[in-house]
Amino acid sequence: MPDRNEMINDLWYKNAIVYCLSVATFMDADGDGIGDFKGLMRRLDYLQGLGVTALWLMPFQPSPGRDDGYDITDYYNVDPRYGTLGDFVEFTHGCEQRGMRVLIDLVVNHTSDEHPWFCEARRNPDSKYRDWYVWSKKRPKHANEGIVFPGVQKSTWTRDSVAKCWYFHRFYDFQPDLNTSHPEVQAEILKIMGFWLQLGVSGFRMDAVPFVISAKGDKVTRPVEQYHMLRAFREFLSWRQGDAIVLAEANVMPNTDMEYFGATGERLQMMFNFQVNQNLFYGLATSDSRPLVKALKATKPRPATAQWGHFLRNHDELDLGRLTDEQRQAVFDAFAPELNMQLYERGIRRRLAPMMQGDRRRLELAYSLLMALPGTPVIRYGDEIGMGDNLVLPERQSARTPMQWSAEDQGGFSSNRKTILPVISAGAYGYQHVNVAEQRRDPNSWMNWMERMIRMRKEAPEIGWGNYEVLPAGSPAILAIRYDWRDNSVVVVHNLTASPCEARLSVGLSGDEGRRLVNILSADHSVADESGKHSILLEAYGYRWYRAGNLRYLLKRSDA
Ligand code: NOJ
Repeated sequence: MPDRNEMINDLWYKNAIVYCLSVATFMDADGDGIGDFKGLMRRLDYLQGLGVTALWLMPFQPSPGRDDGYDITDYYNVDPRYGTLGDFVEFTHGCEQRGMRVLIDLVVNHTSDEHPWFCEARRNPDSKYRDWYVWSKKRPKHANEGIVFPGVQKSTWTRDSVAKCWYFHRFYDFQPDLNTSHPEVQAEILKIMGFWLQLGVSGFRMDAVPFVISAKGDKVTRPVEQYHMLRAFREFLSWRQGDAIVLAEANVMPNTDMEYFGATGERLQMMFNFQVNQNLFYGLATSDSRPLVKALKATKPRPATAQWGHFLRNHDELDLGRLTDEQRQAVFDAFAPELNMQLYERGIRRRLAPMMQGDRRRLELAYSLLMALPGTPVIRYGDEIGMGDNLVLPERQSARTPMQWSAEDQGGFSSNRKTILPVISAGAYGYQHVNVAEQRRDPNSWMNWMERMIRMRKEAPEIGWGNYEVLPAGSPAILAIRYDWRDNSVVVVHNLTASPCEARLSVGLSGDEGRRLVNILSADHSVADESGKHSILLEAYGYRWYRAGNLRYLLKRSDA
């Protein structure tokens, strides 16, 4: 039998570029001030042009919207403010025509407290839905533990006056947890997955996975994960649609990663790498790449079919909870020095561009690093044009403002003056200065740089598929990685400091491969000295992407 690694060619998520967006804030077609599927469809050519290969949509199902849609009242529908199921199918079809996959959020740890299941469960103790939630006659002793939103969430148990019982909610009190150990609830989760697969999605970004699979109840003092549930999700998914995936939101310690992927890759295909994300920001803040290298090593083991999702920012705060107190402080000092920029003194509620003070060199470094990490990059809408944040808005909404398309009113997002969240309209990040239309015209714009980087990343499948090795480069400020896949090697080198720095490195390959590095971005190639070492002078925040070998090998040599 050939090596299994050689046989798997068609795992689309291995070399994908994922772009996440919220329908509500992307593009408003009907002029009510709220984004919708019709608006999103008008922008599919833009997304295809940018080069992204998969879209991840935040929740768009009917919801009272108290947690931006992460509180669902009907899993089998589209919130009428965004359109209809018919529009959704038109949308997935439009994506398919353009070669883009669709992932949607799967929020099944909890429902909204207005979901008919919960309403029935509260009202009628004999209803079957009663057991779909987690109840206690008395206030459990540990009701103050395990709070996810400190500051705005007081407890994980709340007394319901109708049921005259306490119910469990890992997140806000309006998000009662589903009793996910219950066979009927599990069957319903599969049914929800099956429904959306049938409407054209390629998988799910699964919300709060460690909580979904944890045992829940008033007697549970230490939640224990029931990992076998993940296999059941995966099997169902694969039976219904072989290439469908789950991308898990699981901010867990590296020693449990394999439980999520499964020893032979039989559980979830993808997870976000929170460990690397936090240490990456630490590296950007301090110019010290060592903790990042440690995080990369700790998260290196994974089955051949599994993949990491890497990201810089997402719709939540930049969670720094896995760093030490000093490390976290260093990141705050660099990127969120004012209290108002922080959330719960634990994370940062800013967009990337203002965190980097709009410094193009630092933004390029951050994105070049993201694209050069072992896994699949996940880009947040608006970051491709360097959008800013609005710190006047509460909590995480600061970084969720509408997309800025042009210098027209409301940034071209909507014809309505009142929009779901205010469009950023003042200061350096206002839509008058930061918008797609303007950047499209300028070949040197940030957006066009992003487009080129995306293209380059797609042309370097070694990064998504290959094995890698961190190369010693003579300074903790330099991060150099070599990727190998099918007789091709790519070497990426990054300088995390604000001063020029020389990388001295040996690529670790013999012959021409080790001697010559062909720059993929510019004509500035590198040839090793007699001892086999390359000396690469990187400017402040500089980065290089090379292909090992001679000039003929500017593109990879074998077919993927
Ligand atoms: C994680 C989501 O990313 C976040 O936005 C949400 O508030 C919680 N899960 C609860 O669903």
